[in-house]
Amino acid sequence: MRILTRRPHTAARLEAALTGVVKWITEFTDPVTTMLKILQISDPHLMAEETGVLLGVNTGYYFRRVLEHAHRHHGPFDLLLLSGDLAQEPCPASYGRILAELQAYPSPCLCLPGNHDDPELMQRILHGGRVSCARFLQLQNWQIVCLNSRLADSPAGEISAAELLFLEQRLAAADAPCLLTLHHHCISSGSPWMDTMQIRNSDELLAVVDRHPQVKLIAFGHVHQEINARRGETGIFSAPSTCFQFQPFAPEMAVSDESPGYRLFELAADGSFSTECHRIPDVLTGLNRNSHGY
Ligand SMILES: [Fe+2]
Repeated sequence: MRILTRRPHTAARLEAALTGVVKWITEFTDPVTTMLKILQISDPHLMAEETGVLLGVNTGYYFRRVLEHAHRHHGPFDLLLLSGDLAQEPCPASYGRILAELQAYPSPCLCLPGNHDDPELMQRILHGGRVSCARFLQLQNWQIVCLNSRLADSPAGEISAAELLFLEQRLAAADAPCLLTLHHHCISSGSPWMDTMQIRNSDELLAVVDRHPQVKLIAFGHVHQEINARRGETGIFSAPSTCFQFQPFAPEMAVSDESPGYRLFELAADGSFSTECHRIPDVLTGLNRNSHGY
């Protein structure tokens, strides 16, 4: 599904409530000349070994396939955003493999930690050339703000007081349109088992967003499925995983047959944007559909 947004006074909006997910369609009325193209890649869960598998899936192979597919069909990009769970085995070998894959492309890359990651190790290894774990990036007139939603020793998310203060300070400093990104989901996914890991203080985070209308969109990973929602004028989106997917609205953990994928954003200078998810044509091989944990 492709989602386009424009300023409210130019929008013809169709809203449909779909089990907690609000989708909307608006139409462009004038051409946009300068667009930033951002590729969101999420939850690759790389293993230390090239042959390593998770739930039977060679996650490294599909990470590479997703990068190839996105660049062949939609590249080049102004930014690659990697929204967490980069490694299933957070060790130098895993992050070294990720760095090597990313350095094959000419775009700057921002890497966020997920619950499976080691943030300190990421900072040390995913650092060099165009690849970084920076928390802020000014991209033309857009500000990209990255938050760490990882809660130590827990799969659940939380935004610490320091992270909330960082966000407040960035938004107070500039009215430029903002893409806010983090690993965990700040709204319900509709899956009770998954929502036990939702950011515990989502209300606090969203209260900051509500006070700053320049936050045009929030992008997260973690849920291994596509979510399109909105809160006021702020779009809230997740990206599919580059490996296995979870079934939407499942009461307990259940993998789906959907293929690996990625999300594209096009950001316009006036703060409007469009976004769309894509899937690679491959069928996952080796997927263990009966697993109850990962
Ligand atoms: Fe994940």
